[in-house]
Amino acid sequence: MASLLNFTAMSVSQQPPEFYLRGNTTPTFTTKRRANSVSFAVNSPEKPEIELEFIGPKAGSDGSYPVDIAKAISGEKLLRNIMLDNKIELYATYGKVMNCGGGGNCGTCIVEIIDGKDLLNERTNTELRHLKKKPESWRLACQTIVGNKENSGKVVVQRIPQWKK
Ligand code: FES
Repeated sequence: MASLLNFTAMSVSQQPPEFYLRGNTTPTFTTKRRANSVSFAVNSPEKPEIELEFIGPKAGSDGSYPVDIAKAISGEKLLRNIMLDNKIELYATYGKVMNCGGGGNCGTCIVEIIDGKDLLNERTNTELRHLKKKPESWRLACQTIVGNKENSGKVVVQRIPQWKK
């Protein structure tokens, strides 16, 4: 979809300042200013987005769970990278120091997908190996692609399930 951008700027006339004499003795310089308006169209097709909600592991004093929110262009990022880019805690204590950096080897980046699993890629072979016999809602964040470049919607993630702490 094309969007129209308008820029308005004041510019000083290219003409040299006019010189006026007031009375017989006081010269005054003035410059002519006029508003310039430039309009142009930019072709920027909007890419579909995925909204993400990350539910925290512990309820606050009022009994509600903290929720972090992020957005991502569909199909462009791994869940792990979205979380790290948005400073959303992914790893529990052990994983913070011992994670494999997204290589699919350590299994410390497990999250639970509460809602929106259809907006994610299928489990990879690495996940099938690590998460064999685990609930289908569990994913390795470093193997999970958020969106498929065409879909949009909301994904809800339990970021550090109880068993992981
Ligand atoms: S970060 Fe190691 S398996 Fe995901």
